[in-house]
Amino acid sequence: MAASYDRVSKWFHWVTVGLIAVALPVGPVIKHIKDSDKMAFYAIHESAGVTILVVALARLAWRLAHPAPPLPEHVPKPLRLAAGTVHRLLYLVLILQPVLGFLTTNAFGFPLRGETAYLGFINLPKFMEVNLPLAESLKAAHQAVGWSLIVLLVLHVGGVIFHQGIRRDGTLLRMV
Ligand code: HEM
Repeated sequence: MAASYDRVSKWFHWVTVGLIAVALPVGPVIKHIKDSDKMAFYAIHESAGVTILVVALARLAWRLAHPAPPLPEHVPKPLRLAAGTVHRLLYLVLILQPVLGFLTTNAFGFPLRGETAYLGFINLPKFMEVNLPLAESLKAAHQAVGWSLIVLLVLHVGGVIFHQGIRRDGTLLRMV
């Protein structure tokens, strides 16, 4: 049986999954919502996103202090390398994406205050003056990184299915 992650790492992992399940589908939907309801969707998307940032930073700190349990001997080197690369990129994107989103809202001039306060009641500081050209570039970057997150998630879940369904090496059980 493959060695398992510690309890805290498992919590971080599944809380992240839950938050992504909220932030990721809500983001692309916002532009299709009628104006009177839009702010509620912004608030949900942005609060889930900022929480992802907090969780990702705490998780990274935990991970650096608590190395992952070794993979079973029989997992070939290219698979180890692929998994490690996807995991690193996931950390990077889960930190970069909320920061880009946060800066986008500030550059457009609707920071997380009032109707879109963090978690509905915590007003976050406003970081910059309105700058529409910068806001459009940040939004484009946020969109592109959103797509790259989807690609990484497909690779990550594809890896789990491959290990569990085809190699049957019990890798999924390391995280449950
Ligand atoms: C990991 C966390 C996040 C993910 C995965 C994510 C993902 C996305 C995606 C996929 C879109 C749609 C892009 C498109 O239209 O194609 C989007 C839009 C957007 N996101 Fe995020 N986002 C995250 C965090 C945040 C945060 C923290 C904020 C702000 C504090 C934010 C603000 C926005 C804004 C303003 C839009 C544009 C919505 C619109 O007006 O159409 N995002 N996000």
